Amino acid sequence: MGGPPVVYTLLVMLAIFAIRQVVAKIQFKRKYKLPPTIPGWPIVGNTLNMPIPSGMWGHEMAMKYGEMYTCNLAGRLWVYINSSRVVNDLMEKRAAIYSARPNRPLAQDLLSGGRRILLMSTTERWKLQRKVMHSVLNGPNANKTFMPYQELESKQLVVDYLENPDKFYVANQRFSNSVIMSVTFGRRAKLDDKQLRRIMTQMEEFAQIFFDPLKSLPDIFPIMARFPKFMQWWRPWGEDYYRRTVETYQIEVDNLMKKMEAGTARPCFALDVIQGSEKKQFQMDHEEKLFVYATLLEAGSDTSRTAITQMVAAAALYPEWVKKAQGLLDEVCGANAERLPTFADKEALPYISAATKETLRWRPFIQSGVPHELTQDDEYEGYKFPKGTQVTWNAMAIALNEDDYYQAHDFIPERFLNEDLKFPLKGTWGFGTGRRVCIGYTVGFNNVWLATACLLYCFNFEQYPDSPIDSYNTTWEAYNHSPFRLKVTPRSPAHVELIKRMGAEAAAEDY
Ligand code: HEM
Repeated sequence: MGGPPVVYTLLVMLAIFAIRQVVAKIQFKRKYKLPPTIPGWPIVGNTLNMPIPSGMWGHEMAMKYGEMYTCNLAGRLWVYINSSRVVNDLMEKRAAIYSARPNRPLAQDLLSGGRRILLMSTTERWKLQRKVMHSVLNGPNANKTFMPYQELESKQLVVDYLENPDKFYVANQRFSNSVIMSVTFGRRAKLDDKQLRRIMTQMEEFAQIFFDPLKSLPDIFPIMARFPKFMQWWRPWGEDYYRRTVETYQIEVDNLMKKMEAGTARPCFALDVIQGSEKKQFQMDHEEKLFVYATLLEAGSDTSRTAITQMVAAAALYPEWVKKAQGLLDEVCGANAERLPTFADKEALPYISAATKETLRWRPFIQSGVPHELTQDDEYEGYKFPKGTQVTWNAMAIALNEDDYYQAHDFIPERFLNEDLKFPLKGTWGFGTGRRVCIGYTVGFNNVWLATACLLYCFNFEQYPDSPIDSYNTTWEAYNHSPFRLKVTPRSPAHVELIKRMGAEAAAEDY
């Protein structure tokens, strides 16, 4: 038994495997041509030499390799695009073939039961979910329904800054969470909200799997999903995570149903879905609906929170634009703290819209974009990409590309005072690209707009000389500690009075 024949057989198999690999490589090289590839390791490729977050690394690579480079992430090819010109040519103009998502057996199949839109490929299900979300979030009644929520939360935002200036990052979180809770379930979120804590913890668990390749090995090596179930050590945790997610959102739906019975339900996304359940567009299974709500909460809260945190950092780092914005706000809302800005002032305050766009451009917190999968072979300027390539807009590299933006490293709202000012999706890639572009961009843009207007109207922002803000290497998304130190001072005693008045109004609205 055994002995040399087994060894010979193994050696022959290994040799065949090696030869097949070499032949496949030669055939691949003959057929395809990719942008410069970053040197990596056998099997894992560049997985280990890419830091997380990878924005500044991506910027360095872009400086070295130009408008595109390629990484090999454990066998999956990723093309990083480092200029708006190429993003436009490929991800926008050829969106029909640049909009899928890769197969993710852990993050999508196990943790989300295949129901999370963010990770869906361009299937009928994906189209349906986008349609549903789009009709509610960007439809004709959207602003009328959601703006009052945002205006109410902006009053609480300025009070939180006044009362706890060192916890400015928590105030941003509460504001963003409460808006998206109101938009989705018609209820406000409080700081000590147990249910919200639960949602945030689950969101963080999911984000780790979504962004960190080392924590999502079955997504990197999908073949692992074919292991016999007893060998899938991640499965029990994944099934438990799915069950907990369903439970969490079911609690919200149950609460909303009770309010509906009592006649106290506020207009919101879930109400539209429940009341419209007969409509064709809302015909999806119950758990899928729960995942639609989960996605709104996930996609809609941290993004706005982080953007607002970046805006106040930019206010402390570049006082010139703040002075200008405050002068303009004073002209519209009164130089003696007469009233808080509202959306009715948007037309009169183009500079705040420009500052909002600049916030989304300046230091993109989704630092390397989100990959879109190419669904057929494609050629571009001498390159030939195979079907299945992951293509992403390299957000930080583009934001810092001087060919795209003059004085790219600086915060300059003026660069957006142009004919595209009113279109949140034009001029930056903050909301993504092509057919996958963010569906909540109206709510998201308005969140940042209103927070910018109200905070600048009420406060001055400075760095502490002994702890300067490092805008390149700050972990902006930190939520349980301050990502940087910030000195927040009310602009005058009259502003303090106004803020307190607003606080009383916000406290009176409890739903
Ligand atoms: C400032 C705030 C926000 C920013 C910067 C932002 C950014 C993004 C980005 C970069 C993507 C990926 C796009 C791509 O793959 O090309 C995305 C997707 C998405 N966003 Fe947002 N977002 C924001 C707010 C919101 C809000 C408030 C909602 C919901 C109310 C939302 C819902 C979604 C959804 C559902 C997707 C998935 C779209 C798909 O995969 O087809 N986002 N967002």
